[in-house]
Amino acid sequence: MALKVFNDLAELSIPEVESLLKLARRLQTKPEPQALAGKVLALLFLSPSLRTLSSFQAAMIRLGGGSFVISPDMSIHGLETRSGIVMDGVAAEHLREAIPVISSYGDALGIRAFANRVSLADDLADKEFMAMRELASVPLINMESAIQHPCQSLADWKTMDELGIPKQGGKFVLSWSWHPKALPLAVPSATLHMAAMRGMDVTVVRPDGFALPPSIMAKAEQAAKLSGGSVRETDERAEAYEGAHVIYAKEWASTRHYGDRVGDQKLREQLQDWIVDEPCFARAQPDARFMHCLPVRRGVAVTDRILDGPRSVVIHEAQNRMWGQMAVVYQMMGPGA
Ligand code: CP
Repeated sequence: MALKVFNDLAELSIPEVESLLKLARRLQTKPEPQALAGKVLALLFLSPSLRTLSSFQAAMIRLGGGSFVISPDMSIHGLETRSGIVMDGVAAEHLREAIPVISSYGDALGIRAFANRVSLADDLADKEFMAMRELASVPLINMESAIQHPCQSLADWKTMDELGIPKQGGKFVLSWSWHPKALPLAVPSATLHMAAMRGMDVTVVRPDGFALPPSIMAKAEQAAKLSGGSVRETDERAEAYEGAHVIYAKEWASTRHYGDRVGDQKLREQLQDWIVDEPCFARAQPDARFMHCLPVRRGVAVTDRILDGPRSVVIHEAQNRMWGQMAVVYQMMGPGA
C-alpha cells in the first residue's frame, strides 16, 4: 500500500489499517535499520509535543533515515499562520513560504497544528490543516490537527490488539475528564472513530454541555455500521462503565460554549468530580484497562492509584506511537513506496 497522506484512519479501509499494524509488528520484531537510508522526514511543530516529536525522530533513526524539526519557538524569524494578514508585526516568515521550503528538503512532511478553538465549524472542517496540506509537495502526515490525531489512533488500536481486548463485543468507554482548561476535540474525535472502526461497542460518557458534535458522532456511527460495532453517548457515568473492557479518559472543551472561554470555564468548574478512579471500574470487566493519550494531569483527569496501578496501559500506548509511526513512514518512503 503506497501511502501519500496519513491524515485520518477513516481515509483507510479496515484491511489497510490492519496491514499497517502488521507492518508495525514486523518492524518491531525484525528491525530494518537501513530501510529508509538517505530519506529525510521534515517535522513542523506549530504546537507543543513530547511523544510525537520524539517518537517520529526515533522512528526515523531506527529505520536508517533522518529528520529535522522546525517550530516557532526555535525560529529566529517567527512564523505567521494567518492568511491575508499584513505582516508588520513580530513574525517575518509566513507558512505559505515556510511549508514549501521545508517540504523541498524532505521526502515526507509531518505537521502538528492544534485547533484555534474560535469557530467550531472551522475546526470540524480542519480548515487550517487543509490549507497547509495544499502547500506540501511531499507525502504528508497529520501529527495532530484541529480534529485529527491518526498517529495516536494507530498506536491505541495496536495496544488493544496486543492486550487481547476484543474487537467484536469489546466495550470501549470514552470518558470525559475534568481539566482546568478547554482542550481540543482532536483526540476524542479520532479515538471514538478508531474504536468504532475496530468493531467495538463504544460509549461516550460526558457531562451535559460537552456532547461531541453530531458530525463526529455520525462519522463514528458509519464506521461502526461497517465494522459491526456500535456507538452511543450518555451523561450517566455509573451505567456507562458497566462491562467496560477499556476506560479511555480524555479532556475536551465544551461544545455548547465552543470559543467562549468564560462560558466554558463556568460550566467546567463544577465538574471536578469527573476524574477516573477505582470506583469507575466497579462494574467494568475485572481486568478492564485504563487508557489515555498523554500528557495527563495526575489527580485531575485520573488518580495516581489508577495511573500507577495494573490497569494503566498509558506507557504501552506511548511506546506504540513509535512502532505505528515506523510503519507509516516506511509505507511513505520505504521500499516500494
Ligand atoms: N499523545 C500525544 O500526542 O502526545 P504529545 O502531545 O506529547 O505529542
